[in-house]
This record gives sequence, C-alpha cells and structure tokens, in this order.
Amino acid sequence: MANDPTVTIINNANGSRHEYPLKFGSLGPGAIDISSLYRESGVFTYDPGFMATASCHSAITFIDGDQGVLLYRGYPIEQLAARASFLEVAYLLYYGELPDEKQLGEFEQIIMRHTMINENLKDFLDGFHYDAHPMAILCGVVGSLSAFYHDSIDVNNPRYREVSAHRLIAKLPTIAAASYKHYIGEPFMYPRNDLRYCANFLYMMFATPCADYEPSLIAEKALNLLFILHADHEQNASTSTVRLAGSSGANPFACIAAGIASLWGPAHGGANEAVLDMLTEIGHVDNVPKFIARAKDKDDSFRLMGFGHRVYKNYDPRAKIIREVCHQVLAELADNKNPLFDLALELERIALEDEYFVERKLYPNVDFYSGIIYQALGIPRSMFTVMFALARTVGWVSHWTEMMSDSALRIGRPRQIYHGSPPRDYVPISKR
Ligand code: SDX
Repeated sequence: MANDPTVTIINNANGSRHEYPLKFGSLGPGAIDISSLYRESGVFTYDPGFMATASCHSAITFIDGDQGVLLYRGYPIEQLAARASFLEVAYLLYYGELPDEKQLGEFEQIIMRHTMINENLKDFLDGFHYDAHPMAILCGVVGSLSAFYHDSIDVNNPRYREVSAHRLIAKLPTIAAASYKHYIGEPFMYPRNDLRYCANFLYMMFATPCADYEPSLIAEKALNLLFILHADHEQNASTSTVRLAGSSGANPFACIAAGIASLWGPAHGGANEAVLDMLTEIGHVDNVPKFIARAKDKDDSFRLMGFGHRVYKNYDPRAKIIREVCHQVLAELADNKNPLFDLALELERIALEDEYFVERKLYPNVDFYSGIIYQALGIPRSMFTVMFALARTVGWVSHWTEMMSDSALRIGRPRQIYHGSPPRDYVPISKR
C-alpha cells in the first residue's frame, strides 16, 4: 500500500537501489515484502533454516519467543490449558472462535461419529512387521486414507476440506491406538462413541476384549492438557511441511502424512522420545556433569534433548505447565516416585546455571518433561511422538485449511545459491 513504511535495498555490486514495503500484522515483528526482489534486482535472499523468513500470513497462533508467550487465536496457552477441553481448543484453532455450548456439542458429535477407520485398514496394519515403529505405521496409514476418501478430497471444495479435517482429527487417535496394539500384539479396540475424546483414546490404547476397562479421570485430564499444549505452534518444521505439500494441491491426507514424517525427526517432535532415552543413558545425577560437558563439546554430536528452541529464547511456556503437571500426575499415579523426573529436574537446574546454556538462551522446551507424564500414564516411549502427532493434527489441518482458503495461494518453490559445475560436454565412457 502507498503509505506502507519501506526498506531500501542498495545493491553495491551494480548500484541498483529498490524500495520494498514493510508489512505488519496485528502482533509481532514486521516483514520486508521482497516478492518483487528477484524480478527487480536479479538476486535472491539467502536464509538457511528460515531463521528470519515469514513464509505466510496466518491468524492461528502467535509466539513471542523472548517473552515466552504462546497464544492460540489470541487466547493465552496458560488459560486454555487450565480451563478448556482439547476438542474445544480444536474448534478454536480450526474455526477461529471459542464455541458456544451448542457449537461444541455438535462438533463433539461430528468428531466422535468419524472415529472408525475402514475395516480394510486393519489388513494394512497387519502388513507391518510386528515391531514396526508406531510412527512408521502412522505415517503410512494416514497417507493411505486418501485411498478411501477419493470421493471427498477436492481441495478446492470448502465442504470437502472441512470433512477431511474432521476425519483426520477423529481418526488419528484410532490409528495411533491401532499402531500401538499392533506393536504389542494385542487385538485392535474399536472406538467407543460414548466416551470423551481423550478417554476414548485411552480406552483404545489399554482396553482388551477380555476385561472391562474404564479410563482414569487423572489420565484423561493429563492427556487433555498435553494435547492442548501440543496442538499448534505457528510455522514449525512439520506445519511448514504440511503447507508446502498442500501448496501443490496435494490431498489433505498426503499433506498430514508429510507433516508426521517431518515431526518424527529428533530435532523436532522426536525429541520427546529422545529425552527419555537420554535420561535413561544419564542414569544418575552424578553423571549429569559429564553429559553437560558433552552437550557443550563441539566435537561431540550429543545435544541436551528437550533443550533449546528456534523461537523461544526464554522458558517454553508449555514446558513450565507440563513440569507442574508432572508433580501432580506423579503424586496421584506413582506416589511421587519417578527417578527420571528427579533426574530431569536436577539436569535442568544444573544446565540453567551453566554459562553455555545461559549465554545461548537454551531452556527446556515442550519435549523435556512430556515423556515423564506419558510414561507415568503407561504409554511406551515409541508412542511419544505419535502422541505429539495426534495433537498436532489439529494445528496442521487448521493451517492447511487457512492456506487453501487463501485466494492468493501459489505453489511454494524456494530457489538456491548454486555451487555446482559450470556447463560442460558429455564425455564418452571410453575417454573418461
Ligand atoms: C520442537 O519450531 C517449533 O515450534 C518446534 C516445537 C513445536 O511445538 O512444533 O516447539 C517442537 O521441535 C521443540 C524442539 C525439540 N528438539 C529438541 O529438544 C532437540 C534439541 N534441541 C536442538 O537440537 C535445538 O535447540 C533446536 C533444533 C530445537 C533449535 O535449533 P536452532 O534454532 O537451529 O539452534 P542452533 O542449532 O543454531 O543452536 C544455537 C546454539 C548452537 O551453539 P553455537 O553454534 O552457537 O556454539 O545453541 C547450541 C548449538 O550448538 N544448542 C545446543 C542445543 N540446542 C542448541 N547445545 C546443546 N544442546 C542443545 N539442545
């Protein structure tokens, strides 16, 4: 717009000088709109890891990394974690407003009516090796859903987009629990539509056909909180993966499968499983200094898993909440005994007194304590990232829908700085 503030870029290499508008949203830093840069000046920008790149406009989640602020559609995560249900937050993230009682009731009914998966998917699940990692199963099965819903994945049809989002939110718990049952060799449990979302997931995870099972309220409340905390987080690696896949017009199930694949990495959602492996390897508080030294050693690839964050240069607000819930859950489920939690608390204390971590503003992130709770709920480590993916599906489908509803959507196609060979002619093999 004509009265937008501008930034002038002077190219000293060729003396060109161009002005670019500075765009601002409702909160947070502005961004230089450089969409015409290459056309006008023949150069690209270079920002590996997108440290300073805004890839899109979004109204879903806001993070202030310096202040440790996280807002879902403007609501502070602390308030939603303390007072909302996960499906209430799912409605908020997807539709943009908190639901009234009627809207929430209808939404819960819709979601619970989509929880079953096609019976043929059970054959697909049985095709996996008995000890296949549940994330491998989740990635494959979610991607295969497009084979069952080819009649309603016209990504340009808003109603089909909404139905696909409902199906994904509803079916992820069923597929996640089924991947666990496959892993432990127990029969698959069908969803129960008389149970609330988190209770139903616990039922599908831990019930068997041989005995009655009622999910514990403590476990349901803990899951509800953890799912809210993991539901969305702006343009993180997996959400950006979903957006880039979706920008080509790929179907929503394929896009979410791509997000699951990206989340699996230990630098991202795979960190929650890696934290428990790390705490187990450390074993005792006497070993903490040795591992802290390894984390600081540039020649050692070891990193303190669950520590550090691209955006938070303050305590991750989600980690603060989860640490408090750890105390409550362990008090109620494990009479306060959990040596790994004690070790985690001591590791955090020592790290946060160490100049290396303080200087780099490395604090515990969402993954540092979450596994302690999952373990206390009887969920195995191999399922920790599956839990993350289950909750983050709400954020992924919300971002996918926001992007697909934008008439200005174009396929994402970054460029590069080329360091390869200049043009050269083919050499016959006899002359090589
Ligand atoms: C999630 O983006 C999101 O929002 C993600 C997420 C979400 O909700 O979607 O919040 C979920 O992925 C949380 C992060 C989970 N990952 C981990 O816990 C893995 C351990 N953390 C790191 O790998 C790292 O901190 C990242 C990947 C999280 C962030 O990496 P950055 O922003 O690229 O930071 P960096 O690697 O450039 O580190 C800056 C410095 C480096 O040292 P110097 O080169 O300056 O000397 O800090 C050091 C790093 O070596 N450092 C660490 C460290 N993390 C960073 N050193 C030891 N242990 C660590 N964990």
